[in-house]
Amino acid sequence: MVGVSVLASLAALVPGVLSQYTVSWTKDGGLLVADGNRTVVNNSAILAGGLNTTVTPLGNGTEGVSYELVTPTVARVQLNTSGAFHGARFSDDASTRFFGVWEYPFNYQIDNKNISFDLKGVGNSVGINWSNARAPFFLTSTGYGVYTDTLTMGSYDFTTAGSAQFIFNSSSLVYYIILPSESSSNPFKSIITQYTALSARSEMPPTSGLGPTFWSDDFTLDFHGNVSNAQENIKDVFNQLRDNKIRATSTFADRPYGTGNRSWGNFDFDPTFYPDPAAFIANLKDSYGIDFAVWIANRGQLGTELYNASLANGWQIPPTPSITGGLGPALNLSLPAAYSYFTSKLEYFPATGVRGYKIDRGEEGEMPDWAQNIQMDLFLRLAYDTMASRWGASGFYNFARSAVDRSRAVTHIWNGDSHANFSGLAYSVASGIRAGLVAFPVWGSDTGGYIREGDDPFTPSVEVWGRWMWFSAFSPVYELMLGTNHTPWYAPYADAQGGNSVTVDVLKQTANLHAELTPYIKSYAYEATKTGVPIIRALFLETGGVEEESESLWEVSDQYFFGGEFLVAPVVAAGGKRSVYFPKGASRKYLEYFGKKQVFVAGSSANVSVGLDAMPVYVKQGAIVPRGDVYQGNAKWIENWQPFLSIEVFPSLDVRESGFTYYDGEGAEGRAVEISLKVEKTDGGNADVRVDYEDLGVEAEVVWYLKSGEKRVNLSRGGGSTSLEDVELLF
Ligand SMILES: *[C@@H]1O[C@H](CO)[C@@H](O)[C@H](O)[C@H]1NC(C)=O
Ligand SMILES: *[C@@H]1O[C@H](CO)[C@@H](O)[C@H](O)[C@H]1NC(C)=O
Ligand SMILES: *[C@@H]1O[C@H](CO)[C@@H](O)[C@H](O)[C@H]1NC(C)=O
Ligand SMILES: *[C@@H]1O[C@H](CO)[C@@H](O)[C@H](O)[C@H]1NC(C)=O
Ligand SMILES: *[C@@H]1O[C@H](CO)[C@@H](O)[C@H](O)[C@H]1NC(C)=O
Ligand SMILES: *[C@@H]1O[C@H](CO)[C@@H](O)[C@H](O)[C@H]1NC(C)=O
Ligand SMILES: *[C@@H]1O[C@H](CO)[C@@H](O)[C@H](O)[C@H]1NC(C)=O
Ligand SMILES: *[C@@H]1O[C@H](CO)[C@@H](O)[C@H](O)[C@H]1NC(C)=O
Ligand SMILES: *[C@@H]1O[C@H](CO)[C@@H](O)[C@H](O)[C@H]1NC(C)=O
Ligand SMILES: *[C@@H]1O[C@H](CO)[C@@H](O)[C@H](O)[C@H]1NC(C)=O
Ligand SMILES: *[C@@H]1O[C@H](CO)[C@@H](O)[C@H](O)[C@H]1NC(C)=O
Ligand SMILES: *[C@@H]1O[C@H](CO)[C@@H](O)[C@H](O)[C@H]1NC(C)=O
Repeated sequence: MVGVSVLASLAALVPGVLSQYTVSWTKDGGLLVADGNRTVVNNSAILAGGLNTTVTPLGNGTEGVSYELVTPTVARVQLNTSGAFHGARFSDDASTRFFGVWEYPFNYQIDNKNISFDLKGVGNSVGINWSNARAPFFLTSTGYGVYTDTLTMGSYDFTTAGSAQFIFNSSSLVYYIILPSESSSNPFKSIITQYTALSARSEMPPTSGLGPTFWSDDFTLDFHGNVSNAQENIKDVFNQLRDNKIRATSTFADRPYGTGNRSWGNFDFDPTFYPDPAAFIANLKDSYGIDFAVWIANRGQLGTELYNASLANGWQIPPTPSITGGLGPALNLSLPAAYSYFTSKLEYFPATGVRGYKIDRGEEGEMPDWAQNIQMDLFLRLAYDTMASRWGASGFYNFARSAVDRSRAVTHIWNGDSHANFSGLAYSVASGIRAGLVAFPVWGSDTGGYIREGDDPFTPSVEVWGRWMWFSAFSPVYELMLGTNHTPWYAPYADAQGGNSVTVDVLKQTANLHAELTPYIKSYAYEATKTGVPIIRALFLETGGVEEESESLWEVSDQYFFGGEFLVAPVVAAGGKRSVYFPKGASRKYLEYFGKKQVFVAGSSANVSVGLDAMPVYVKQGAIVPRGDVYQGNAKWIENWQPFLSIEVFPSLDVRESGFTYYDGEGAEGRAVEISLKVEKTDGGNADVRVDYEDLGVEAEVVWYLKSGEKRVNLSRGGGSTSLEDVELLF
């Protein structure tokens, strides 16, 4: 089936067709955005009322509604009637797809067909529990976006085909209708860029935050060898990684690590497990090259300093009936005194050398649902400020599971408690794609899954874990949980295959590959800071929804573009076989990345089969992929370590000119470096190829991928150009 109507209207939005949008309120109360006499957005009803169940469409001329085009492609609508709840409905062709709002892939979908839910943490669910990033923003396959600028609670309803509706608990509401800008070649990226300019964009993460990151749910357990406390246990992890030559950049202590009830709320380390935290953290950094972070949450457990102070000062949010087991209420951070108390207490951690927080919870009943977005926005900002005042912007890595879009400026994301099975992996891939569609770019999942249910000693199975490691290699962040009975180099995994550990081998291959891809990943993280365009990209987001593409393109939940150059198809089921679809619009052909032999034509599908030593990954024609060793991290075993960049190029006659913006530097202290590839056809049908590059900042080489194989050429410091004449190209 080909979505003709959808794609035809989209075609009208691509550049070259100069649009002159107008907004008008019709007699029946609908707000229309039109381009000349063609309706491009039908905001068929503006809603207001005393409750979300009693809102009704407003008639034309109702007091308190205003609208205007604030840019040629963005209309701002303000609602401020006597109603306590406000919302809007959008109507479109029944085949229209709506994307966005939630990270969680309800029904394993990347779009929102037939979904209705609040703008809150999703909680326990299929595949992943607590996959909770969210944004009051949706994007349509017809080529417009709608962003509602609020932290109040709302609900989105996509259960009527071709219709999207939202209602917020707010007596005044502002929303934006966003159309592709004329200057963009991709309508969807253009909408995301304009949306994130209105809400927030993520900050450049430190390289250590991208991983490989190794952590444990409980470092105070599972001691091996001569280990007798959590500090030594963490060092044991990095000794093992060193002995196996597996790259790593950071670690964090989940709860428990502090004193007090349930180990959280006294703002300290338990001396039984961390006898000398400051010296330990400094040594981890200096001797092991590892950054250290800790778990935090906005809730005070009974008997702790946080609980006592909040009770004494009346800062506690009244406990809700859903708090069980004394998990503790949250502090109301809307109260300035509570906010500054929490800030001053948290400062202990950066002062002790901690370089980031894993920020948990905020959606487990410790506050009423209506306060989730307001309180998490405050908490994530507070957490950011305590770290930034010690380490500076981008000098630390904070990540959360419960975040609403404005918090994108102050936190990165992990996708919650995924299940340690193939369903958890499949849902994690889809949630990564969805995180991209709500413009959270720096994202990772617990490799292998977090929730290990059942009695099988191998949970996750060796196969699930291996496949997930590959997915994490091609995720912005690679983080992996170790612990009792699930540490690759200890039993049962270590001797799963007669003493020859597949798990350690795959871990080594994938973690080291992820480390090698760091220059590439950082470059896209940088692009996201400038444009909001995510690193994990739904197929349609990268192709721009080309006209002759099949309808199923909008639905693909197990394949994505990783940055602009890689097409990635993780294996998310047992057996190692899957079908891969090669979309049009991004490239005419794709080259299988690891073997560099098989070529696939866009528009086709292929059945592929891979062992645990690979994953289906493809590069586009004209791709430029900067890889290399630019961050030492734990690699102290490399004598006289020096940064080195290896720029892979994949020339094709189908792409005469391509470019890559490489980000050189650490955190916020970097610069953009342009690299370009030019291809000219020779009279004999071969090609002359050239790479031009600015100052790359480090020793570098170009690796040409040609019919005759690979060819390495060293590059000059300070920038330059390198070329080959009359070569036969691969694809
Ligand atoms: C709807 O209301 C607006 C503002 O009050 C007015 O300018 C416009 O003419 C009305 N449209 C119709 C079709 O009545
Ligand atoms: C819409 O506008 C176009 C170009 O201005 C014109 O050719 C066409 O006839 C108009 N259609 C209608 C239904 O008014
Ligand atoms: C807008 O949608 C409403 C509800 O489906 C429909 O009645 C109306 O005709 C549509 N208006 C336009 C201009 O398409
Ligand atoms: C009204 O709000 C409640 C609580 O947020 C929510 O569960 C429900 O889905 C909403 N109903 C509608 C029609 O938006
Ligand atoms: C909404 O309207 C009320 C009453 O006219 C006014 O006091 C208030 O400032 C308005 N709010 C916004 C956000 O415009
Ligand atoms: C929509 O979802 C409901 C349950 O949430 C289900 O009963 C119904 O069959 C679904 N409809 C379609 C068209 O998928
Ligand atoms: C995760 O969510 C599922 C519901 O899908 C629930 O049955 C299960 O108990 C939850 N697991 C944990 C550890 O909370
Ligand atoms: C709406 O928000 C207010 C706080 O602004 C809260 O008191 C009220 O309970 C909320 N209503 C619903 C139905 O959630
Ligand atoms: C434990 O033993 C390993 C070697 O097996 C050694 O490298 C490490 O320093 C020892 N740790 C402590 C705390 O003694
Ligand atoms: C909190 O108050 C309880 C009851 O007064 C007390 O037992 C406890 O020691 C206090 N906790 C801290 C950390 O001071
Ligand atoms: C937090 O405090 C503010 C200011 O007193 C209040 O308006 C709000 O309702 C409180 N929030 C919650 C969740 O209790
Ligand atoms: C710790 O919290 C639990 C659950 O609320 C409570 O039963 C217990 O008494 C608390 N312990 C202390 C020492 O306060």
